[in-house]
Amino acid sequence: MEFEGKVALITGGAQGIGAAAARRFAGEGASVVVADLDGPRLKGLEEPIARAGGRMRGVVADCGTKGGIERMISDAVQAYGGLDILVCGAIHRPTKPFLDVTEADLDLAWQVNVKGYFMAVQRAVPEFRKRGGGKVVLISSTFGFAGAPNFSVYCTCKGAVVNMARALAHDLARENINVNAVAPGPIMTEGMRELIRNDPSIEKHRTAAMPLPRFGRPEEIAEAILFLASPRSAYMHGHNMVVDGGYLAV
Ligand SMILES: NC(=O)c1ccc[n+]([C@@H]2O[C@H](COP(=O)([O-])OP(=O)(O)OC[C@H]3O[C@@H](n4cnc5c(N)ncnc54)[C@H](O)[C@@H]3O)[C@@H](O)[C@H]2O)c1
Repeated sequence: MEFEGKVALITGGAQGIGAAAARRFAGEGASVVVADLDGPRLKGLEEPIARAGGRMRGVVADCGTKGGIERMISDAVQAYGGLDILVCGAIHRPTKPFLDVTEADLDLAWQVNVKGYFMAVQRAVPEFRKRGGGKVVLISSTFGFAGAPNFSVYCTCKGAVVNMARALAHDLARENINVNAVAPGPIMTEGMRELIRNDPSIEKHRTAAMPLPRFGRPEEIAEAILFLASPRSAYMHGHNMVVDGGYLAV
């Protein structure tokens, strides 16, 4: 029960990595708020967590907008009395050839994948101050360090998240707020399954050159998120923790 008494907010966590983290946090005694666009999936996550004796509530919110961010944070504070941990993972992934990318693709991706993370941390800081500090875990990606065909928008956004973790670490250190990121390799989530449905070659090619030639499980990333949200990682700051089966080692 490492997180007993702590309140954790996860954005884009109705499925995939965020949902795995929500289950783990709840299993370790945290009160968890998950903000996502997908109300039915949030309900589907809430029920088994409650049955297992955990505390979790879903908030339907667009985490790329100021209004959605305000709603998820005030909901967490009202429901559970404060905020200790913020995990930003909401994602919009337009995948297409570079020359087909539209301004609308870029605007929405930037809004959800970069601006939404930035503004969520800004809004969380006053709540962290009331608790004497906090933990921020941004979800970046190996695609913040490497490129891939048809992923120009995603890679550009994730590169920004990689450096957001470093930059915010400077501004928030004196507030006793740790800022780090987890950079997953290819993980078999609902989002990944959708990418594979659109381009079946991804399934074979993504892992082919990897030392561990398999997709990761969402739970394997949740483990790193919990570590970075715990006192065990107190001296880690501004770091991107790569959890990728060796994807970047080749
Ligand atoms: N799956 C991978 O291989 C992989 C690899 C590296 C990094 N990541 C990162 O991990 C995070 C989670 O990825 P995943 O594959 O588990 O996700 P996923 O695609 O399975 O789920 C993403 C969730 O984000 C939600 N979402 C989308 N736009 C939103 C918005 N505006 N507001 C609120 N919620 C919104 C969706 O409803 C969905 O529940 C993302 O940041 C992703 O970039 C994933």
